[in-house]
Amino acid sequence: MSSLPLPEKVNVLLIGAGGREHAIAWRLSQSTHLKKLWVDPNANAGLLALGTACPEEFSLKRKYYLERWLVQENIGFIIIGPEGPLADGMVDALATPERPIFGPTKAAARLEWDKAYAKTIMRQTSIPTPEGRVCTTLGAALAYVTERDEPCVVKATGLCAGKGVTVCKDKHEAIAAVRKCMESKEFGDAGTSVVIEERLEGQEVSVLALVDGRTITVLDTCQDHKQVGEGDTGPNTGGMGAFCPTPLLSDADLQSVARDVFVPAVDGLRRQGIEFRGVLFAGLMLTHAGPKVLEFNCRFGDPETQVLMARFQGDLLKTLWLTATGRLADAEFSFDPRTACCVVVCSEGYPGEIEKGHLITGLVPIDKSNNSGDRWMFQGSTKLEKLKKIVTNGGRVVGATCLGSSVQEASKSATEFAKTVGFSGAFHRSDIGQRTIICPKLTI
Ligand code: AMP
Ligand code: GLY
Repeated sequence: MSSLPLPEKVNVLLIGAGGREHAIAWRLSQSTHLKKLWVDPNANAGLLALGTACPEEFSLKRKYYLERWLVQENIGFIIIGPEGPLADGMVDALATPERPIFGPTKAAARLEWDKAYAKTIMRQTSIPTPEGRVCTTLGAALAYVTERDEPCVVKATGLCAGKGVTVCKDKHEAIAAVRKCMESKEFGDAGTSVVIEERLEGQEVSVLALVDGRTITVLDTCQDHKQVGEGDTGPNTGGMGAFCPTPLLSDADLQSVARDVFVPAVDGLRRQGIEFRGVLFAGLMLTHAGPKVLEFNCRFGDPETQVLMARFQGDLLKTLWLTATGRLADAEFSFDPRTACCVVVCSEGYPGEIEKGHLITGLVPIDKSNNSGDRWMFQGSTKLEKLKKIVTNGGRVVGATCLGSSVQEASKSATEFAKTVGFSGAFHRSDIGQRTIICPKLTI
């Protein structure tokens, strides 16, 4: 597959159905290399305006059908958005020498789907990460949290759609979190073992890098806002909004992160005979002792991708193809110097129980030629119904994303833009992008 030339025109299949994929699909649509874009059968209304839905669920349970369909439709490139298909081994199952896939193999994606494995790799390669222990039995986990005096964080080791982490303020919470994972099995097999970590304090940043096995290109840094409430309060969510770039890391800081985090991670995998190709995402906490890795993801983040794509300049299809085929060094792209901010409009009750099916008003459609604008509504959990009605279909409904000359300006515009989306029970945070104003820059 290495150095397979990008065809003049190629049919692309994009797997994933949310805001991240809408932003990716929009940039793919602008590529002169795109012939036809196929999207997920469950795609949101925004994606359906840019591509054609596959006729059937894209699941490996139907591998033989899928392979036939890919050949029949002459699909030349597949891009995988979410972690689930990566953890299931979709890349291993469907990539061929003529049909590359953007995304890591199951073995490489283990950095995300097995937090215990990620911790081991980080320890072996001296990547800075919170001190912690992996416990595989309830007894060992309870004994460990009971004997610790400092606050800790309990993490189910498997994939839990962002819900398997409990940041605990005391022993009682830690014991309850361990029991939730290992006794009541709230996260199923994902909580069979847990990672128990020291609880750190600091600002969080998301650093994403394209990796083609050897070459690593670190992208501009984003800041996500994980907690549901204003001023970072309430339970964690998938992300209530983000901005990019963040002034918290200078170019020199980013180079240190590349050297101390990304190079050892990719190299650590390679020593085990595993090549990482795709996007590697390090969730960092900036502590007084320098940045520490809280987690690795093996895919684009959401909402991080919405702000990254708003600023991306270049041919995304070509960039992802060159990454997937081992020639990232040939990719040419840059980022708009302005700051992008995304404010996510959510359904009442999120991240808990929500109601679906509410009519959405004020949606601004994104067409592929909307390349020079400064505001986009990326759709997350939306659904196209009969008579072109668009309704809510989940927790995070729309990412109102704007460019501005500063974080403050982008934040102000995106917050105003978010107010123009309406549906029963809609809410959003009004302080996305505000926290850098009160936080000093960290130099490492
Ligand atoms: P993770 O999925 O491991 O990134 O954890 C989800 C969220 O939990 C992070 O974005 C942090 O806000 C928080 N978190 C995770 N690990 C720690 C830690 N060691 N100390 C403090 N907060 C943490
Ligand atoms: N925004 C965090 C994530 O995508 O996991």
